[in-house]
Amino acid sequence: MRFGVLTGGGDAPGLNAAIRAVTRKALNGGHEVSGIRNGWMGLLTGESMPLDRDAVRGILPQGGTILGTSRTNPYMREGGVAKVKENIRRFGLDALLPIGGEDTLSVALKLSQEGVPLVGIPKTIDNDLSGTDFCIGFDSAINEVMRSVDRLHPTAEAHHRVMIVEVMGRNAGWIATLGGVAGGADVILAPGFPFSIGEVCSRLRARHEQGNRQFSIVVVAEGAAPTDMKGEVSQDVKTDEFGHVRLGGIGHLLAPEIERRTGYETRVTVLGHTQRGGSPSAFDRIMATRYGVAAVEQAERRNFGTMVALRGTEIVAVPLQQAVSQMRQVDAELYEIAKLFS
Ligand code: F6P
Repeated sequence: MRFGVLTGGGDAPGLNAAIRAVTRKALNGGHEVSGIRNGWMGLLTGESMPLDRDAVRGILPQGGTILGTSRTNPYMREGGVAKVKENIRRFGLDALLPIGGEDTLSVALKLSQEGVPLVGIPKTIDNDLSGTDFCIGFDSAINEVMRSVDRLHPTAEAHHRVMIVEVMGRNAGWIATLGGVAGGADVILAPGFPFSIGEVCSRLRARHEQGNRQFSIVVVAEGAAPTDMKGEVSQDVKTDEFGHVRLGGIGHLLAPEIERRTGYETRVTVLGHTQRGGSPSAFDRIMATRYGVAAVEQAERRNFGTMVALRGTEIVAVPLQQAVSQMRQVDAELYEIAKLFS
């Protein structure tokens, strides 16, 4: 068989581990592999590269993606889908393995419904795809949040300050909740769990008035919106080809308000793309490797229209439809655990 592998949407640590695994497993089975450049864009422009053992040597610990990525939606381009199908034919692909989040895999679902043989691999630091417990990149992202919160603790304590840490995650609160728990944040603010600025200030006051704690760490998800403000905060009004605005700015909105209401000096750190850069964690490397191997196996069995997924400790295949049908939010039980430590 000839496989085509592509990476779409925001990059995430562990993509290269998955590309390497797909390539090694496919070559091992006597197949050939083409790397499609820059996500769905490569199937519009017809750009690909052959993937052999040499091409994937040494990439396991590397962040980013050797294939490049983009937020291209062929369904939003005139003649886009026909072009994609034409290039799949031209490249002689028997199976496509798109690695991506909700946007990339929703395109994959539509193409699969039109007869394109494919198996998806879940990737997004936001961890908000349904049907799987973990997506490639999420564990590395929360490790980065944890390391940053660890580094902010001593300076917050030294200056008796409130430190606001704004993290990514789009409209899901996975990074904030689990990164915050791992870093021992005092307040975690995430979409799906309503809060007002007044309540946040009361929680901070209660903590500071308890005695020997004159500092606090607040982790806030970029998509979190206080009930006393008008919706989520974005950096731009423009939307991408999937209809998303660029979120960000909630930290800088909260800080002066908290300082004004409590009198506590407050600073903001926006972690931004540092959460996506860097080397993947051991967990992401192992999971991405298992996903890559499993995706080739599913394609060999012609179990198309599916996505490989982690359920507990098992790698399984779930219908793509299930994966993209709705965004997976943090469960309330997990958020309650986070709240215990505030
Ligand atoms: O979906 C991953 C993600 O990192 C989100 O958490 C964030 O909102 C967005 O991508 C940022 O996108 P960009 O890299 O286009 O700025």
